[in-house]
Amino acid sequence: MFLQKLRLYNFKNHEEVNLTVDEKINCFLGKNGSGKTNLLDAIHYLSFTKSAVNPYDLQNIRTGQPGFLIKGVFDIKGKQKEVVCSFQQGEKKILREDSQDYTRFSEHVGKYPIVLIAPQDIELIWDGAELRRKFFDALISQLDRQYLDNLIIYNHQLKQRNSLLRAFSERGTVDQDLLESYDEKIIQTGDYIFKARREWLLEFIPKFRQHYDFLVRESDEIADIHYKSDLTHGDFQTLLRKNLQRDLILQRTSVGIHRDDFLFTLKGLELKRVGSQGQQKSFLIGLKLTEFEILAEQKRMKPILLLDDIFDKLDDFRIHQLMKLVSQGTFGQLFITDARKGRSEQILKEAGIKACLYVLENGTFTKNG
Ligand SMILES: Nc1ncnc2c1ncn2[C@@H]1O[C@H](COP(=O)(O)OP(=O)(O)OP(=O)(O)O)[C@@H](O)[C@H]1O
Ligand SMILES: [Mg+2]
Repeated sequence: MFLQKLRLYNFKNHEEVNLTVDEKINCFLGKNGSGKTNLLDAIHYLSFTKSAVNPYDLQNIRTGQPGFLIKGVFDIKGKQKEVVCSFQQGEKKILREDSQDYTRFSEHVGKYPIVLIAPQDIELIWDGAELRRKFFDALISQLDRQYLDNLIIYNHQLKQRNSLLRAFSERGTVDQDLLESYDEKIIQTGDYIFKARREWLLEFIPKFRQHYDFLVRESDEIADIHYKSDLTHGDFQTLLRKNLQRDLILQRTSVGIHRDDFLFTLKGLELKRVGSQGQQKSFLIGLKLTEFEILAEQKRMKPILLLDDIFDKLDDFRIHQLMKLVSQGTFGQLFITDARKGRSEQILKEAGIKACLYVLENGTFTKNG
């Protein structure tokens, strides 16, 4: 699958854009603030129906305008498909494929797979466990529908159990039978998710390590992911019983897979604390390339890869390795942004990669290369 044409009207800082892009490698070059990331974000909209940067559609309309429109023409296995995403102030967002409006956006997500590697992804390493759970949950859910169903059910059961704890706590009495009937259900769902995460990670880690090792080629720089779950320390039922008094005081369930985390380590130490910026970025690229590989396998087509400011913080060797993957044809269509035009030109030239370069200046594009 690849994008052939991209059209924007009043999307962020772009008044009007009409681009025919290359089937392989495209580079958006231009000064800070010229709108390179915004272009990638428009492609993100076409795939995920939302921005990767700003969750408020309204703020993605060009200032002072009534609405935005993004249009993409894709080639999927030789067939042309037109996707439109538009939003007008005060109206509902519209998503359209070949002139047909979607009623449920969830039917669209996944049809045009993309993988984005952006500077803000570093939050995955820096932030709390929730983001990491979201990253892995999103990926597992794409491959295993039952997992997604269980996840939704679990969250619902958790809310119900917490309400029950609140009620017991306020009344000062515990209805054991009622609690047990709630627990029976949540234990089943929780166990399913715990086992699925554990097993799935066994497949993910070797793939991730392969990508990371290729990128860094440092024999002592071992990267790893550890699954941390309350359920590793005992079965869910026992844990719930043991923590009941605490849960009643807190008025919420303090053990379970909703507290799971994935610990990222380098040479056995926590990446967040010991990793340099370049090492953290490399780790992130490793995670995302694994995501790319898994999605490509599952969808039987290569996702579009969006690399926003990818060269920053990486040393020459790692850039060289990344470019090796590009020149070997590991990826399908690629979009790269860089504020330093000369650097990208040099990197591509050294790697012998032919790319389409678009230079953004004063809101207009010049295509060269
Ligand atoms: N709704 C909007 N209306 C008008 N301009 C907007 C809107 N949203 C964002 N912008 C502008 O877009 C610009 C940022 O664009 P973008 O992030 O794409 O830049 P960039 O080329 O990626 O820069 P960098 O090299 O720093 O990453 C900012 O100047 C910002 O003010
Ligand atoms: Mg940018």
